[in-house]
Amino acid sequence: DESRLKQGIERRCFYFDDIPSTNAFMLSHSEELESGDVCIAEHQSAGRGRRGRKWVSPYGSHLYFSLFWRLTDGMSKAMGLSLVVGCSLAKVLKDLGVAGIGLKWPNDVYLDGRKLAGILVEMKGQADSNCELIIGIGVNMAMPDAQGEVIDQPWADLQGLAMPGKTEFAVRLQRQLQADLALFEREGLKAFLERWQASDSFIGKPVNLIMADKVETGICRGIDEQGALLLEVAGESKSYIGGEISLRPA
Ligand code: ATP
Ligand code: BTN
Repeated sequence: DESRLKQGIERRCFYFDDIPSTNAFMLSHSEELESGDVCIAEHQSAGRGRRGRKWVSPYGSHLYFSLFWRLTDGMSKAMGLSLVVGCSLAKVLKDLGVAGIGLKWPNDVYLDGRKLAGILVEMKGQADSNCELIIGIGVNMAMPDAQGEVIDQPWADLQGLAMPGKTEFAVRLQRQLQADLALFEREGLKAFLERWQASDSFIGKPVNLIMADKVETGICRGIDEQGALLLEVAGESKSYIGGEISLRPA
């Protein structure tokens, strides 16, 4: 009803104290969900990242958030979606006055060069018809000491910055995602190229692309309309599609 809309509660929110993973919950209940529904938990006992990696999810400390979205024209249209989500999260953080936000292709949000948040988009369905997307986002709000030690790369949190509570943060994120996903469905990734470009941490910098069978070194030139990473290698422009590739500073 109208008062719920005014409060920003436009869809359902499934809230858990403790759950294995908010993404796993939404994947296993996808038939009953509607676009824009959200799942949030205080703790994840099996928080996950890309390729089976673990997302460190201490109790009460951070935001563990998943949003459900249904695409009628299929998974093949979902390429580049994690880039859209990165733009949405960067916008929410910038609107809250957080300076030093940067994006790393294809799925990370950095604060002053350290990993602040991760995005994991999981999909179920057909390549060219109905498909279900679970957009998982983990944002470090205030890392407890002992937990930071188990993360094997530089990380950041929002501690010490004036932040709203997790509920308001989640409401802002849900609204921004709904708007951006609708825009993505209408206009595709081209509507996000400027936003991505403005926040890409590596544009113009030397990077290594680590692939299963080789490492390619070049200058990062941003992304194209398909969401592929553009790399300049010996004066020549090459493009790389996501999946099994990791980008690192060279
Ligand atoms: P890629 O560039 O391939 O995405 P990645 O190291 O960012 O590589 P992901 O699978 O995206 O890998 O993210 C999982 C990684 O994130 C973990 O291996 C760990 O290094 C790091 N990590 C796990 N939990 C957290 C957390 N709460 N905050 C910051 N970083 C974390
Ligand atoms: C990454 O950088 O690899 C992505 C990490 C994504 C973590 C979030 S936390 C909420 C949602 N549930 C999960 O199990 N993972 C995502």
